[in-house]
Amino acid sequence: MFQDFLGKDNEELSLRPQTLEQFIGQDSLKEVLNVFIQTAKARQETLDHTLFYGPPGLGKTTLAQIIANEMDASFYSISAPSIDRVGDLASILSNLEPGDVLFIDEIHRLPRMVEEVLYSAMEDYCIDIIVGKDSTASTIKIDLPPFTLIGATTRYGDLSAPLRDRFGIVHHLPYYTVDELVQIIFRTSKVFNFNIDYPSALEIAKRSRGTPRVANRLFRRVRDFSQYHKPGQELIQIEDTKLALDKLNIDNAGLNDIDHKYLRTIIERFGGGPVGVNAIAASIGEEVTTIEDVYEPYLLQEGYIIRTPRGRMVTNKTYEHLQVTKDES
Ligand SMILES: Nc1ncnc2c1ncn2[C@@H]1O[C@H](COP(=O)(O)OP(=O)(O)OP(=O)(O)O)[C@@H](O)[C@H]1O
Ligand SMILES: [Mg+2]
Repeated sequence: MFQDFLGKDNEELSLRPQTLEQFIGQDSLKEVLNVFIQTAKARQETLDHTLFYGPPGLGKTTLAQIIANEMDASFYSISAPSIDRVGDLASILSNLEPGDVLFIDEIHRLPRMVEEVLYSAMEDYCIDIIVGKDSTASTIKIDLPPFTLIGATTRYGDLSAPLRDRFGIVHHLPYYTVDELVQIIFRTSKVFNFNIDYPSALEIAKRSRGTPRVANRLFRRVRDFSQYHKPGQELIQIEDTKLALDKLNIDNAGLNDIDHKYLRTIIERFGGGPVGVNAIAASIGEEVTTIEDVYEPYLLQEGYIIRTPRGRMVTNKTYEHLQVTKDES
């Protein structure tokens, strides 16, 4: 069991590219980051505070680790929901060494009081904290070493303006192209030491909804099928791939069961829309935030739904894709 767990952990670790050069895709982002990293290093300064936003699984955490690595800095990672008191953040900040990278994941979920402490930490490298209570309360100022804060969020719009403004580098991560995903899948195949033919890599890439995490997950599942049906062969071929993807209910556009349920609900229960996300969420039994952060961005980008002031609507593409005739009555 333990071995098994270690094995998985190591795989995940080596799957993450360690340098900008190893990181596939996001070319324009890589280009500017490289300039900022090289110039900050030449000036012996820390990198400006950096914010990455975009859908899950596109490499925000990976990029933050790469930055720390490229800056020869130590990397500390925390998730915003785990910091609920000002003191928690103050102790993390005051333990930083000059040049350290502090990564805050899901930064839109910081409590307001905690967020306010970050303002002066980011801008002036100091924090004011209140010690004692009532009449004996006093503020003490703690100086911090220069550090780089890297924030990641799936919800840029939920960040307060003062926080957003304190990041010197703000970058959106778009979905990956099929070609980039093919390269990522070949890299994963090397890391796992399990071969894959080009048609399979292409098929997986097309069904990965522009997302490296999905591509890597599908690769693993297809590998399982291949290994099960052809033990010892260690090569994924297109028949295995098609079979596996069908068994996993991933359709030819990369949509899964939940996407189908979501789209069919809009059509069958709400006449194609417009319908509010809360009503859809209640009907299909998923969290609103999951629908908004995970499922909708891809459906929107691919034109399966549109957002109107009155809610979500499916498009002709959806009717065609699901092979449902539009009820014009
Ligand atoms: N450009 C890439 N090349 C190769 N692998 C990648 C790339 N981007 C991401 N990955 C892989 O995809 C997985 C997800 O990446 P990561 O955890 O960085 O995403 P994220 O944007 O932080 O997601 P979340 O919002 O869910 O935290 C990781 O296993 C990582 O190794
Ligand atoms: Mg992450």
